[in-house]
Amino acid sequence: MASPEDYLRQDWRTVHDVPMVCAFSYNWERIENFQSRPDDIVIATYPKSGTTWMSEIVDMIMNNGDPDKCKRAAIFNKVPMLEFAVPGKMPAGTEQLAKKPAPRLVKTHLPVQLLPMSFWENGCKMIYVARNTKDVAVSFYHFDLMNKLHPEPGTWEQYTEKYLAGRVAYGSWYDHVKGWWEKRKDHPILYLFYEDMKENPKHEIRKVMQFLGKDLKEDVLDRIVYHTSFEMMKENPTTNYKMAPNDIMDQSISSFMRKGIAGDWKNHFTVAQNERFNEDYEKKMAGTTLRFRTEI
Ligand code: A3P
Repeated sequence: MASPEDYLRQDWRTVHDVPMVCAFSYNWERIENFQSRPDDIVIATYPKSGTTWMSEIVDMIMNNGDPDKCKRAAIFNKVPMLEFAVPGKMPAGTEQLAKKPAPRLVKTHLPVQLLPMSFWENGCKMIYVARNTKDVAVSFYHFDLMNKLHPEPGTWEQYTEKYLAGRVAYGSWYDHVKGWWEKRKDHPILYLFYEDMKENPKHEIRKVMQFLGKDLKEDVLDRIVYHTSFEMMKENPTTNYKMAPNDIMDQSISSFMRKGIAGDWKNHFTVAQNERFNEDYEKKMAGTTLRFRTEI
C-alpha cells in the first residue's frame, strides 16, 4: 500500500469490530505489540473532542509554560498519534514514538478495549477528554469533508445516521466515552470535559498539572491559558495543522481549527435531528453516571 489511491477516501476497515481509518488498519500487530514506558503520558479522546488542545496544554505544562519551546515542532510530531500510519508516505506513530525521549506524550483515539496491553501493565498516566456528542458530530462531519484519509461523509443528513450507527472512524461515540469512564475506576485516568475546559480553562489546566505531579506558579498557568486559547492556537502554525500535508488535509474545505466553541450544533441540527439525537441518547446512555453539557 503505497499509492494515494490505496488510502485516500477509502472506506473504513474493521479492526476488532471497530471501524478504523483504512490507512491505519494495516499491520495492526504494531499496535497490539507496542511497548509502553512507565512514564508515558497518554492523551486519549474520541475524535474531535479537544485532543489537539489537550496535547498542547500537556506539552506546555511539561515545558513549564515556555511558548518558544512549545513551538519546536508541529503538534503531530511532538505528540505522535499511536495508531497513525500512511504506509509509504509518512512514518507510523509507533515508529515516531520509538525514537522519542522520555517522557513521551502519546495521542490516541482508540476505544479503551483496543489500547495496547502494555499501557495498562505499566500503569501509565492517561488523560481522557470527552465532548458532547452533538458538537462532536458537527466537528467530525467537517473533519471528514477535509480529511482525505476518511471516506466522503455525504450530506449532513446522511452523516448523522452513520454517526448514530457508529459507522464512523473509531466507532460509536457512546461506547467510547462510556468505556473510558468505566476504566477510570481501576486505572489512573484523569477524565475531563471539553465544555469545562471552555468554561474555566485555568481550573482544568490546574487539574492536569496536579495529575502530572507538577507545581507551576499562577503566572505560568495564566500563560498556558493564554497560549492554548483557540485564538492563539488557530494562528500558531505548529498547532493549526497547516504543517500537515495539504493532499491529506485540505483546509480550504474546512479549517482544522474551525470554531472551537460549545453549542455549535445548534447552527446545524434541525429540530427533527435534535429530537432523534435526544431519544437515541436516552437509550444508549441509560444507566451511566456520565453527564454531558451541550451548551455552557
Ligand atoms: P470544532 O470543529 O468544533 O471547531 P481534535 O483536536 O480532537 O481533533 O478536536 C478538534 C476540535 O477542537 C475542533 O472543534 C477545534 O476547533 C477544537 N479546538 C482545538 N483547539 C482548541 C482550543 N484551543 N480551544 C477550543 N477548541 C479547540
